[in-house]
Parts: sequence; structure tokens; C-alpha cells
Amino acid sequence: MTRASWRTRIGFILAAVGSAVGIGNVWRFPWLTAENGGAAFLLLYLLFVVLVGVPGLLGEFVIGRRARSDPIGAFAKLGGRNWRPMGGIALLASVVVLSFYSVVGGWVLRYLLGSATGAYFDAPQQFFAAIDYGLGAVAFHVLFLLLTAAVVYAGVDRGIELATTIMVPGILVLLVGLAAWASSLPNVAGGYSFYLSVDWGYLRANFVDVAAAAAGQALFTLSVGAGVMLTYASYLDEDRSLAADGTIIAGLNTLVGLLAGLVIFPVLFSLGVPPGQGGPGALFISLAGAFADLPYSRVIGVTFFGVVTLAALSSAISLFEVPVAYLVDEWDVPRPWATAGVGSLFLITGSVAALSPSLFTLLADTVANLALTVGLLGFLLFDGWVLGRVALAEYESGAGRLARALGRPWLYAIAVVLPVFLAFTGLSSVTTTLGVSVPAVGLLVGAILVVGVAIAVLRRPESVF
Ligand code: PHE
Repeated sequence: MTRASWRTRIGFILAAVGSAVGIGNVWRFPWLTAENGGAAFLLLYLLFVVLVGVPGLLGEFVIGRRARSDPIGAFAKLGGRNWRPMGGIALLASVVVLSFYSVVGGWVLRYLLGSATGAYFDAPQQFFAAIDYGLGAVAFHVLFLLLTAAVVYAGVDRGIELATTIMVPGILVLLVGLAAWASSLPNVAGGYSFYLSVDWGYLRANFVDVAAAAAGQALFTLSVGAGVMLTYASYLDEDRSLAADGTIIAGLNTLVGLLAGLVIFPVLFSLGVPPGQGGPGALFISLAGAFADLPYSRVIGVTFFGVVTLAALSSAISLFEVPVAYLVDEWDVPRPWATAGVGSLFLITGSVAALSPSLFTLLADTVANLALTVGLLGFLLFDGWVLGRVALAEYESGAGRLARALGRPWLYAIAVVLPVFLAFTGLSSVTTTLGVSVPAVGLLVGAILVVGVAIAVLRRPESVF
């Protein structure tokens, strides 16, 4: 059986943008921004997207395109059988993320319907409380999952590529329209300044926390660490510049995040609703409440939640594809059966998350970040210390002059600097979750130790150093 591949380069780029652009941009990003001091968070986030997200994305692309295989197969092919568990971690990360993601996808579908019928207009607070967890949430999670599975079932080029080529431009056009509309509301200045002017004092006082949240979000938003981008790059059959593609993908993804902020903050400030305090549900509640108070509520609500639905679906598709690719590549399972099998798995894991708020929060807040961080850490150490020159050669193949010049700095960064950084933020989120406070220097020493030991164990003679 010939392996699936993208039909066009732009198809690959849009599929990857579709994966990156998701609830992370329109829900998690504004929520974290509001919780972490507004523009201070935004600034660090942008910095980490460029310095950590893009190099990390390229680290995944290189492995996928080289191996032309699912994550587990890719590590076995390039590094030997002992590396299979590394692919397993990525697979697990994709399962963890989709398990809560499709519950949120279900909420979004609920809000889309609710906007059309006006169901939440009178009592936004009660509406969310009625739908967030429980059997209704299970039902809509299942609906969302079925939509996702239908696209994956249709295949890489005729399903994923076709769907995202329509969805991604749709998201952009609708968001630009909404941002323009939001700017015409009264009293929006406070929203823009909260969003766009940095409070340096806040940043100085909370640096480590804000940085850890911003770093986690930079990975989450670019879909790195879960093997999604590795799998998508494995369907490339021509050597184009990965660096150029990665930059375009990160650029479009950031644009969508910024546009979402330009819709959400003006709307909230215009109506005097304080942004975001009170966790993940707050944004749904306050935004829906705001829409209800504005003229043309239904049109605005349907448009906004339509955008979120498209964004959520195109990301869920990419997460769903990872275990499907594993079954297809490693076990020769026909795609329809693989889709059905993976769908049944998510049916169960998502339903559990939809019934248990504490499990949901644990997955969405802590486990997801940690899984992506550990996943990416493994990818990068593999690139730098196992593949070494091979990774560089793969990066350079198809790359233009500028990208080539950046090849070596890229490899040094992903082999040493980024692993220490990831270990640092990973340790910081573990200690925060456990409730122990370790000074930043202690975390840094710990991170250097972890990475140093890992390198000593993993290093292969072929690597550059
Ligand atoms: N990037 C997606 C978003 O921002 C979420 C995601 C994370 C998708 C990891 C795939 C892998 O919503």
C-alpha cells in the first residue's frame, strides 16, 4: 500500500496552521493573558513562540519528514528499537490533549447552537453551569468527535487537506470581520491598553510564573510535543524548505491569536466586564453574556462560535490523526478500522473527562503542558544528540540561503539551550503543582542536571558535538 501524502505544499501548510490554530488561540490564550497580567504575558509569549516554538516545530518536522512514518515508527526507524517508547510518549500526549479538547469542542458546539437559538442570552452564567460537565457534555463531546473522525476517515489528502483548505481561510476572514466590528464598539480603549501595554512592575514581580505559563502556551499553540507536526511532516513527499514553512505556520497562528484578542478584550471592556478571572469557564460566560447585550447578538454569536468550532475541529483532526497513523503504519490496519478504533478510545477517555471536572482540570491545566514539554524535550535531544548531522542535513534539504545559514545555530539551540529551558519550565510546573516552592536558581541547576545526564546517556558519536 502506498503511503498517504499531501497533494500540495499549501495543503500541508494549511493543515498545519489548522492544527496550530485552535481553542488554544481563541480560548486558552486570552484566558491565560487575562490571568497573567495582560500585555506582560503577551510579550513573553511572542518571544517564546519565536525562540522556542519555531525551532521546536522544526525539530519535529525534521524527524517526521526524514522517517516518513508515525511517531513510534519514526523513532524506531531513525534511532533503533530502544527509541520506540519516545514515540509512545508523543502518542500518549496526543491522547491526553484530545481527551479534554473534545470536551471543550462539545461546549463550543453547544454555544454555537445556543447563539442561533438565543438559549444563553438571559442567563449566561446558568447556561454554562448547565452544560459544562455531565451527560449533556458527554453527548456533545461525542458529536464533536464524530465530526472529527469523519474528516480523518476520508484520508490525508481528501479528508484533512481538503477540509483545512476550506476551514483556515474561513477562520481568518471571519476573525478579521469580527475584529473590525469590535473596534466600532463604545469604550474599547481600556481593552486595547490592557491587551497591548506592558505592566513592567507586574512582569518583574511574577516573572517565573508568567514565563512558565507563556512557554507552555507557546508549545500548546504550535501543537508541538505531541507528534502531530511530526506526523503531518511525514506526509511530505518533496523536499521544500521546512524553515520557511514553519515560519509561515507560526506567523499565521500568531496572527489568529492576536486577532482573537482584538475581538475579545474590546468586547469585554466595552461592557465593563473584567476579563478572565475565574478560570477556563469565565471566558465563555463573560463573552456569551457580552454578545447577548449587544445588537445583532445572534449573528455575532454564531459568527464567533462558528470560528471557534472551525478552529477546534481542525486541531482535533490533527490530534486524532496521530494514533490513526500509528495503527496504519505499524500494524497495517486499514484507515476506516483505525479511525473506528481510535474513535472508540476517545469516546471513553473524553467521556470520563466530561463527567469529572477534577480530571478535566488536571488534564487541561497540568498534564497536557507537562506531556507536551516532555515530548518536545525528547524530540529535541533526539535531534541534537542522536541524529546530529542527519538532522542538520534534513533541515537543509530544500532550504534557502537564509535558512541554511541558520541551520547550525538552530541545531545548537535545540540540542542544548532549549532542552535546559524546557526542563526548567517543566520542573517549575511540577513544583508549583506539588505546592513546593523552589527558587529559580534551584530549578535552573536541576534543569541543567537533568539535561546533562540525558545527554551523557543518549549521545551518539555521529552527533555534531
Ligand atoms: N494547537 C492547538 C490549539 O492551539 C492545540 C493542540 C495542541 C493541537 C497540541 C495539537 C497538539 O488549540
